[in-house]
Amino acid sequence: MGTGRHSDYVSGVEGRVVRASASGKVILLGEHAVVYGRPAIAVPLSGLRAMATLTPHPGPLHIQAPAVGIDAPLSELPPDHPLARIVYLTAEHLRRPLPDALLQITSALPVASGLGSGAAVSTAIVRALATWYGISLDPLTVSGLVYEVERIYHGTPSGIDNTVIAHERPIYFVRGQPPEPLPVGTPLHLLVADSGIPSRTREVVGDVRKHWEAEPARYEALFDQVAEEVEAARRAITQGDTQALGRRMDANHELLRAIGVSAPALDRLVEAARRAGALGAKLSGAGRGGNIVALVEDATADGVEEALRAAGAVHLWRTDVENGGTGFPETGRVADHR
Ligand code: PMV
Repeated sequence: MGTGRHSDYVSGVEGRVVRASASGKVILLGEHAVVYGRPAIAVPLSGLRAMATLTPHPGPLHIQAPAVGIDAPLSELPPDHPLARIVYLTAEHLRRPLPDALLQITSALPVASGLGSGAAVSTAIVRALATWYGISLDPLTVSGLVYEVERIYHGTPSGIDNTVIAHERPIYFVRGQPPEPLPVGTPLHLLVADSGIPSRTREVVGDVRKHWEAEPARYEALFDQVAEEVEAARRAITQGDTQALGRRMDANHELLRAIGVSAPALDRLVEAARRAGALGAKLSGAGRGGNIVALVEDATADGVEEALRAAGAVHLWRTDVENGGTGFPETGRVADHR
């Protein structure tokens, strides 16, 4: 588990090759309701990372991102392209020129599946550029820059993705408030399973908004119930009560179904995980496709993994969530970036 401290994720010195990375994330509870001011809990996926490498190179900045078919000078990308935007924003923030360098982006994170691939790529780029100039940025500053790019992907993001990825530790998050580090009483063993169905966060968030506008009382009540599950889950995580946490995750999945963001493929995966002995399971992220997350015990992890594969999971990741390090900034230093 990381600390959010700049130096943990970078190597290299000014004018030499610089490498920086950033983790993915998974939302444990509270997605969608978090857009409407309710709390949510998210954890980093420290083993699944995006990487940005800067290598000295004659001429203007050149970007290679093979996964999205980009191999071009920065100036050839539209200025609102997410990769271009984070580079320009960061250079402006650092008050430095664009480096004469080759910027290579790679990522182990699947795109459009709710694991924070966009925010991880942006975070890795911010860290690489800052390191190139010998500058160390605190997690809140990184988070604020990345948030600007998340707006391109998501429309009106709550800010939870950029926050958990920039801090790289479990967080309790309320939109517009300083993120709170979440102490983890006993390590959580999670299985994340990808349905293989792309999930377009912007569209799903837009649909939820339409429903909320049409039936505000019903949706507000659903969001309040989500908030109750999140608060109870927070206590369970802190106390190390994984049985209780599992029940809260199950309840949150039912509420997400009522909100209208599940899908038959996601329900199948959630059911399969529970039947194979998971303590709890739910969709994670925007829904309609993307991932589910299951809370498992050591003894049941293999069986749950097998059951998820049989139920159609195209990718599976295991991650353990423990307490983060000591790098969480004082809440008083929070920048107003949401
Ligand atoms: O698809 P993801 O995990 O990036 O999910 C977004 C989470 C939402 O709550 C649906 C939207 C948001 O901005 O918080």
